[in-house]
Amino acid sequence: MKKAVFSGMGMYIPETIVTNKQLEVLMDTSDEWITERTGIKERHKVKPGEGTAAVALPAAVMALANAKMAKEDIQLIIFSTIAGDFLAPGSGAILNEMLGVPGTPAVDIRQACSGFIFGMSMAKAYIQSGLYERILLVTAEVQSVALQMSTEGRDTAALFGDGAAAVVIIAEDGHKDSAGIGSIALHSDGRYAEDLSIQIPTTRETPFLSEQMIKDRRHWVVMNGRNVFKHAITKFPAVINEVMALEGITKDQVKLVIPHQANLRISEAVAKKMDLPMHSVVYSNIHKYGNTTSASIPIALFEAVQEGKVKKGDLIVMAAFGAGFSWGAAIYKW
Ligand code: UT7
Repeated sequence: MKKAVFSGMGMYIPETIVTNKQLEVLMDTSDEWITERTGIKERHKVKPGEGTAAVALPAAVMALANAKMAKEDIQLIIFSTIAGDFLAPGSGAILNEMLGVPGTPAVDIRQACSGFIFGMSMAKAYIQSGLYERILLVTAEVQSVALQMSTEGRDTAALFGDGAAAVVIIAEDGHKDSAGIGSIALHSDGRYAEDLSIQIPTTRETPFLSEQMIKDRRHWVVMNGRNVFKHAITKFPAVINEVMALEGITKDQVKLVIPHQANLRISEAVAKKMDLPMHSVVYSNIHKYGNTTSASIPIALFEAVQEGKVKKGDLIVMAAFGAGFSWGAAIYKW
């Protein structure tokens, strides 16, 4: 059977740091509140004019170099972002131009925080169907431009950060227990679509963007944080249990859980519910980057590998919950 295997990873974090202390100047918040409620100390933001594909590019180039693969050998780009450079076309096409691979198909997905898990499922399906053998899965998020840097927007301004990561995924001959992407579980529930959203431009209105909409401050990220939190702490453990059952493994066999870095308190609640040791098994790097939406899992995985926390043969569980609501989990054997 064909396995979908990570052959190279890359990440990119924009240089500019925004600390909690800097936010204190812009809004009614405090380093203490943000640290206690989220675990975040700082996040990064793009330079003015640096769009989503520009953030993706260095991560993609690094992943290709680490995979020792020429860009021309990539057969498909899967690009995950909540906010692309344009409303249309997707940023996959823009990255295709920046990488200089005209003709290579590029598809965008917009599963927000769960984008990496949904992207992995697509890469696995393409590889197992035999359609493609070398896929570049890119996650890139430029969220700072959609955050209200004022007391009104303090819930999201404190939480979200910019960043990108990429993985080259290749087909290898293997069997159920060999290295690569294992079982995947995916879910969406659109009843909560408005609980975490960017609602304009909107095809529900004509024109789909107007001065009035901006005056009404409808161009910012809106979030019902409490509801997202409430669902996250039940859906994370449920989907992790679901994917372990699909794979036929128990939590004792899992070396590392990499949750989407949504909020440290969410990861801690999941660890507690699942009786998993937070510091040795459940990975966190949210203090440095904030919540980087779909880029957070591959950034965390990249850093966990660099820190020597992942060794050949280890079973990893990656899990995400976020806007949509969409959530999912995947098993990866290193
Ligand atoms: O990636 C997936 C997407 N997002 C998430 O996973 C986020 C999930 N939700 C959360 O992480 C949390 O709900 C937040 C961190 C956003 C908020 O924390 P919370 O403990 O749930 O606070 P809350 O929403 O219950 O708000 C408590 C108070 C409110 O003030 P009032 O109404 O009690 O006067 C908020 O306005 O805290 C206020 N607040 C803040 N205060 C200082 C909200 N954000 C801030 C802030 N600084 N940055």
